[in-house]
Amino acid sequence: MTMDMTIYTERRARLIEQMQHGIAIIPTAPEVARNADTHYGYRHDSNFYYLSGFTEPEAVLVMIAGDEPLSILFCREKNLEREIWDGHRYGPDAAQEQFGFDAAYPVEQLDEKLTELIGNQTALLYPLGLDPAWDQRILGLRGAVQEKSRSGIRAPDQIRDVRALLNEMRLFKDDHELDIMRRAAAISTAAHKRAMRFTRPDMFEYQVEAELLHEFCSHGARHPAYTSIVAGGSNACVLHYVGNNAQLRDVDLLLIDAGCELGGYASDITRTFPVGGKFSAEQKDVYEIVLAAQSAAIAAAVPGHTWNAPHDAALRVLAQGFIDLKLCHGSVDTVLESGSYKQFYMHRTGHWLGMDVHDVGDYKIGDDWRPLQPGMVLTVEPGCYIRPADNVPMSLWNIGIRIEDDVVITDKGNEVLTDAAPKAVADIEALMGRS
Ligand code: GLY
Ligand code: MN
Ligand code: MN
Repeated sequence: MTMDMTIYTERRARLIEQMQHGIAIIPTAPEVARNADTHYGYRHDSNFYYLSGFTEPEAVLVMIAGDEPLSILFCREKNLEREIWDGHRYGPDAAQEQFGFDAAYPVEQLDEKLTELIGNQTALLYPLGLDPAWDQRILGLRGAVQEKSRSGIRAPDQIRDVRALLNEMRLFKDDHELDIMRRAAAISTAAHKRAMRFTRPDMFEYQVEAELLHEFCSHGARHPAYTSIVAGGSNACVLHYVGNNAQLRDVDLLLIDAGCELGGYASDITRTFPVGGKFSAEQKDVYEIVLAAQSAAIAAAVPGHTWNAPHDAALRVLAQGFIDLKLCHGSVDTVLESGSYKQFYMHRTGHWLGMDVHDVGDYKIGDDWRPLQPGMVLTVEPGCYIRPADNVPMSLWNIGIRIEDDVVITDKGNEVLTDAAPKAVADIEALMGRS
């Protein structure tokens, strides 16, 4: 092994230990055509990469648990012609050596080798139901093994979803992962600051998006972790707005939800700021409520609290704020019980974050919200979205605000990875410098 691949060999060993017995088959993601002769930028499968560190398409990882554990890679062969056109391929020999597998074979031999390897295994684990083509292929291979029963070879009688084990492993980030996530967060916070400095009335949303992408790419993060939301004025009340083609008005707020992917890990930040550099009184009133809700939620994101504690904390602050703004009526408890707040806050306060922006991991254990534990990474992202309606003061129409940070649970409390992007009103206005 020339590169340090021990994190991946250790992860495979941990998975194999938890499998106890059986064979796991984990394909990477397919390449996806965009249109004629053009593909979307290739993105490996997160689970495959987590266990291998290998980023080429057309690769499959096979792991066998038991007394003689094995990790085997199937990958593309070297091919001078294809390498001239598309670039370097490791090929099985170099991949085995450099990535620390016990064996590696050309991916064309997958079915033949798997038919041998599956024989007499007790369990077959793979990402069940993720891709219908793989479901068919794996069941077909198991069927081929069953046909050999007269020669004394048994097919696995259990089929399990390998993600039940992998999701739980991935939920707890190790130091290597946290280091990458800190760097991804640093690039994304710089991008949000750049967008705040750059934004001017009359620009188009896509011009601000271009600044975000410039900052990501010029620091080695070639792709956003998800399509950036650059939403001026009423567009901020569309939760998944990605049109990014409207002109920005001086009087509007701009909501930007954008984060880069670096080294296979996501960041996910939202900031909301005034296009003209100064919050109006109404905008500021709503903004301060969302910011206070976010502070309360971050304070609640500590070990010993449950997953739901930040959401509950944010909801109480938002409910009181909505009552103060005359958006909701009654007491905090009645607003929460009746759900009347959902007209203005209709999503949850966060999600796990990691290789995938909405990362894997259960949120409940049995019927209960799970406790927060060191190494978990989550977003904290309350918001308020006020669409025009008869029961809403007109002065608040079309204000849409979300504030989102990435938070690691630590032994002592938490670490906010994305603190460097300003969110206090005075800090935003000072950075924009238009007064
Ligand atoms: N950017 C996706 C989300 O905030 O969940
Ligand atoms: Mn998010
Ligand atoms: Mn987001």
